[in-house]
Amino acid sequence: MMVKTDWLLVVLLGLVLLILEGAEGRKERILGGSPYELAYSAINCRKHSASIKDFGGIGDGTTLNTEAFQKAVNQLSKYASDGGAQLVIPAGHWLTGSFNLTSHFTLFLHKDAVLLASQEINQWPLIDPLPSYGHGRDAPGGRYISLIFGTNLTDVIITGENGTIDGQGALWWQQFHLNKLKYTRPYLIELMHSNKIQISNLTLLNSPSWNIHPVYSSNIIINGITILAPVTSPNTDGIDPDSCTNIRLEDNYIVSGDDCVAVKSGWDEYGIKYGRPTSHLIIKRLTCISPYSAAIALGSEMSGGIQDVRIQDITAIQTESGIRIKTGVGQGGYVKDIYVKGMKLHTMKWVFWMTGNYGSHADTHWDPKALPEIKGINYRDVVAENVSMAGQLDGISGDPFTGICMSNVTIGLAKKSKKNPWACTNIGGISSSVQPPPCKLLADQGPKKSGMCDFPTESLPIDSIEMQRCSYRLNM
Ligand SMILES: *[C@@H]1O[C@H](CO)[C@@H](O)[C@H](O)[C@H]1NC(C)=O
Ligand SMILES: *[C@@H]1O[C@H](CO)[C@@H](O)[C@H](O)[C@H]1NC(C)=O
Ligand SMILES: *[C@@H]1O[C@H](CO)[C@@H](O)[C@H](O)[C@H]1NC(C)=O
Ligand SMILES: *[C@@H]1O[C@H](CO)[C@@H](O)[C@H](O)[C@H]1NC(C)=O
Ligand SMILES: *[C@@H]1O[C@H](CO)[C@@H](O)[C@H](O)[C@H]1NC(C)=O
Ligand SMILES: *[C@@H]1O[C@H](CO)[C@@H](O)[C@H](O)[C@H]1NC(C)=O
Repeated sequence: MMVKTDWLLVVLLGLVLLILEGAEGRKERILGGSPYELAYSAINCRKHSASIKDFGGIGDGTTLNTEAFQKAVNQLSKYASDGGAQLVIPAGHWLTGSFNLTSHFTLFLHKDAVLLASQEINQWPLIDPLPSYGHGRDAPGGRYISLIFGTNLTDVIITGENGTIDGQGALWWQQFHLNKLKYTRPYLIELMHSNKIQISNLTLLNSPSWNIHPVYSSNIIINGITILAPVTSPNTDGIDPDSCTNIRLEDNYIVSGDDCVAVKSGWDEYGIKYGRPTSHLIIKRLTCISPYSAAIALGSEMSGGIQDVRIQDITAIQTESGIRIKTGVGQGGYVKDIYVKGMKLHTMKWVFWMTGNYGSHADTHWDPKALPEIKGINYRDVVAENVSMAGQLDGISGDPFTGICMSNVTIGLAKKSKKNPWACTNIGGISSSVQPPPCKLLADQGPKKSGMCDFPTESLPIDSIEMQRCSYRLNM
């Protein structure tokens, strides 16, 4: 009897093992079967992983995957309170319309993964204009939702091994040029009303319009992003932090048809009313090529205010201007406490540019008494070569731009430069060791040994956020 029991036990155990193995085998089949090691740095690692293939995604470049993406996000959102989830996009060309993200979620793109934005208009639902803009940017009514959208989220990561998101924007640019757009063009990535955002290690190609637009959000890190668009493509801004606070932009490389970084906070009376500034923004190690725009623009939409921006180690080549302030009567708001330290520029029209009569308005209801306050703009340690004009600094009559400080600035003028390298109106400030010597309105303080013009030494909370190393062994 003993023998028989033992034999039975062995058989039962074997059966259990077989069943377990079968389940394991099935799981592997669903996931495609080949082992895949993932390791990356992120603000949070995730307990659960899935592949877009698990949700019926097909990466053949022609099958539309919008439903697969939305299904994946909906399913994985169930893990939000259980360690969060990541959706892995394997190698392939994944055609998709717009989809929404969820909280405690990571979208990870394999190095050979390409998200291809659908060119069918019905894949782009409409959403309301931003309350701080009152209008869409291209047309008065609604706007097409961005390719990757999220609102009211916390802890969202979009990253990858330099995988690609291709907006296939040519069609949109053409519609824009033909003046055929009924609504405002979509962006590639927009996150609204969200907290704790990481967007890193991706390549963004040919956005229909702006590339990355965090708005009404906080605690944002955007790093290791390559953004490429033809330099003549309309409004293909790189990164536009808009009414956001605590932001770190680091090691980004941008070639585009508009400002590489454009700092914003709402438009005219709508932005004034919404009253949400962009503040505590760090921009480090940005490389920019944008022949018709600025490396970094502050404005033109700045009606909610822009304060405490720390810009360090900027490289720009064949770019229209280095740092540009764009504002005008009716904008209201402010741009103050701006600190720039370390710029290397080559082949520029202007190094410094302030425009007090930027005439872009949301509508005709702007308040002629809404004057912007531009104050405390500090630049130091700037080297520029082959420059047409050192600075064009135009404040507003009756509303001068004040507290401008420039020190340790060396500008090499191009052979065909303007006769007078500086032009200044309605501004005030000081300078030290600036070559060629600046306009009289920037009163020369003589050479200062330790340099002049503030740069804050105390760090911001966003500076001390450390990334974790996340590693996974998956079957994909
Ligand atoms: C995505 O979010 C927007 C804005 O909240 C909403 O209008 C849209 O219906 C959402 N899309 C899906 C597929 O849930
Ligand atoms: C998102 O957050 C904003 C600001 O807190 C709020 O006004 C809005 O109602 C929220 N939307 C949703 C869909 O929860
Ligand atoms: C990412 O890919 C882009 C486009 O191929 C390339 O230019 C860039 O150098 C890559 N970045 C990294 C960090 O490998
Ligand atoms: C992401 O890019 C940063 C540099 O910006 C690099 O240090 C890091 O190793 C990259 N991570 C991955 C997973 O490629
Ligand atoms: C002036 O700027 C250069 C970089 O352009 C930097 O190496 C140098 O230390 C700066 N000098 C002072 C006195 O800050
Ligand atoms: C200097 O700038 C001009 C445009 O102003 C450009 O045509 C020329 O190639 C540049 N020279 C160098 C050496 O980069």
